[in-house]
Amino acid sequence: MERTFVMIKPDAVARGLAGRIISRFEDAGLTIERMDMVSLTREQAGRNYAEHEGKPFYDGLIDYVTSGPVVKMVISGEGAVTICRKLIGATDPAEAAPGTIRGDLGLVLDANLAHGSDSAESAERETGIFFG
Ligand code: RTP
Ligand code: MG
Repeated sequence: MERTFVMIKPDAVARGLAGRIISRFEDAGLTIERMDMVSLTREQAGRNYAEHEGKPFYDGLIDYVTSGPVVKMVISGEGAVTICRKLIGATDPAEAAPGTIRGDLGLVLDANLAHGSDSAESAERETGIFFG
């Protein structure tokens, strides 16, 4: 049993896709343990994406994830970290496989619908940032 942090990003919430995205995790057999809709502060967004600070896309990324409400979740299940990343798909929707959230519902890298922690350590760190 493993836990991960997943966030439905502002573009997906604005497009009314949150329910369908949540269903994909449930359909895979994962459990939604915690869930809330919130607007991120720049500080929270910056802590979540600290690894990207200084990169050319960083400021745009922070603007984007703070541009509207997000749905933050803790999801659990066998291999939850890897499974959630697989369900979300490759970072660039143009490269993401059909059947994945980004592959089916997205078009561009800047608005790629969902975030999933990339390791068990990231999951613990990010859950702390978003759920205290
Ligand atoms: P995320 O953290 O949001 O789940 O995405 P990820 O692991 O698939 O990708 P990551 O490398 O962590 O990048 C974080 C977000 O930054 C934007 N990005 N833009 N212009 C670019 O080259 C570029 N690279 C990354 C994407 O929106 C990505 O989700
Ligand atoms: Mg990432």
